[in-house]
Amino acid sequence: MTKETKDFSKYFDFSGAKVISEDQSGKTIRLNGRDIHIVSEPDYRQEKQRGKEEIQVHYENAVPDELKSLGLGKKYLIYTYGCQMNEHDTEVMRGLFEEMGYTATEDRMEAAVILYNTCAVRENAEDKVFGELGHMKVLKQQRPELILGVCGCMSQEASVVNRIMQKHAHVDMIFGTHNIHRLPYLLQEAHFGKEMVIDVWSKEGDIIENLPKKRTDGLRAWVNIMYGCDKFCTYCIVPYTRGKERSRLPEDVIAEVRDLARQGFKEITLLGQNVNAYGKDFTDRSYRFGDLMGDIQKIDIPRIRFTTSHPRDFDEHLIEVLAKGGNLVEHIHLPVQSGSTEVLKRMSRKYTRERYLELAERIRNEIPNATLTTDVIVGFPGETEEQFEETLTLMREAGITSAYTYIYSPREGTPAFDMADDVPIEVKQKRLARLNALVSELSLKHHQELVGQVIEVMVEGESKNKASVMSGRSRTNKLIHFEGKTEWIGQLVQVRVTAAQTWYVKAEVISEPAVASNAG
Ligand code: SAM
Ligand code: SF4
Ligand code: F3S
Repeated sequence: MTKETKDFSKYFDFSGAKVISEDQSGKTIRLNGRDIHIVSEPDYRQEKQRGKEEIQVHYENAVPDELKSLGLGKKYLIYTYGCQMNEHDTEVMRGLFEEMGYTATEDRMEAAVILYNTCAVRENAEDKVFGELGHMKVLKQQRPELILGVCGCMSQEASVVNRIMQKHAHVDMIFGTHNIHRLPYLLQEAHFGKEMVIDVWSKEGDIIENLPKKRTDGLRAWVNIMYGCDKFCTYCIVPYTRGKERSRLPEDVIAEVRDLARQGFKEITLLGQNVNAYGKDFTDRSYRFGDLMGDIQKIDIPRIRFTTSHPRDFDEHLIEVLAKGGNLVEHIHLPVQSGSTEVLKRMSRKYTRERYLELAERIRNEIPNATLTTDVIVGFPGETEEQFEETLTLMREAGITSAYTYIYSPREGTPAFDMADDVPIEVKQKRLARLNALVSELSLKHHQELVGQVIEVMVEGESKNKASVMSGRSRTNKLIHFEGKTEWIGQLVQVRVTAAQTWYVKAEVISEPAVASNAG
């Protein structure tokens, strides 16, 4: 939210509403003609805190027997925004819906429940959701029985909840990132009650294992290894919306990866906002990300990826383990954000340009064929032309092959929100265009270097434009198109790169895979 629309405040606010009742289950208020049951609300002060309480791990079933038929004959639809964490949370919610008897639909006209799993990282992500919620008002008037819910990172912001209560009274439920496992109970309340229900936990909860997951892809799967973030980069809202860093126990992660291998999945991406901090919170053992990767390397699954790593905690042990290769692929996404030490300091990234370059060099020297990709923010408060140009030179010096690039977006409640957002929007846009032109150049150059090389591709499916052309990814996550057969989907195929384009390479198959089998 911008400074101009600050009237929705970073603190939860229901002043102007009439309190109807208050008991152990929360409070019910009446606002603009709608009753709202507030079970719990976002609290910025608590979201900022990092307590020392130990995190418990729970293994019980999330869907009680009495709710297993609540969704029979009903359909659900989830719109997902944001990062892989959110995509994976959606897979968990799909699992919960289906355990309750609901079936999926893509058609909003036949959905009994529509959820928006939202992202708060930049303002334009939020604007899209508010635009969509506005459109849903008409649908809700036509079909009052429709349940409309908002969850994910935006729900953790008091300003968003205030705005929904004030301006989008047709929303029926709001819940956050820490209580997804409560979805069955929230749905029960929404189906049987008429009130809007708000249940947003400001403090991260315990770790809940055994949640059902309905994965969308049969080949590739995401596996959370940790939740939350304690880095508090000054521009970033994630530490507030996702809570403190909590690592899943290694035995639970390993059991999930083994199970996915048994089901026929070919590629696992381990997820965390800062995977290199994995295990830092364990009090009973000394076991870090390098140890986890070492153990996962022994599992019979072709490819293991991970995202995202923070340069600060990237230790020597991890580099040693990754250097052994095997199923640990040599693609490292290492967000730099800026190439200027001065800007990095104001971002509180806790490394310098030189330290990042040293790390990039070490990774490229010690891990054979490693490729590096990154994230960059342009137009951070106070970024000068020279400082922006330092980012451009860093991209070349570090040997970056591709990047996600963003214009800085002020997020209320973060330290950078109070810095003057003094780079004019036209300048930000020009910097983004220059950076994107460089990223295209670096990507094409990298692809040209691959021409003539033999590489391994995991066949993912038919290419969008031509059925006989298959597409897949290299170990380093580069997109590859080649003539092939649909029976090869899920197989690893050796190809020789024949031509380079900016965002993909063309290749020819060297030897056809011996056995054709599809992943389960
Ligand atoms: N944890 C990851 C890390 O530290 O590299 C990044 C997670 S964040 C969800 C993904 C990217 O969004 C960040 O790397 C950053 O480039 C970008 N981002 C975060 N906050 C932003 C903001 N306020 N404005 C613009 N981009 C932002
Ligand atoms: Fe945000 Fe920084 Fe945490 Fe990444 S490490 S999620 S950019 S605070
Ligand atoms: Fe967005 Fe939340 Fe991910 S803010 S980027 S969905 S952690």
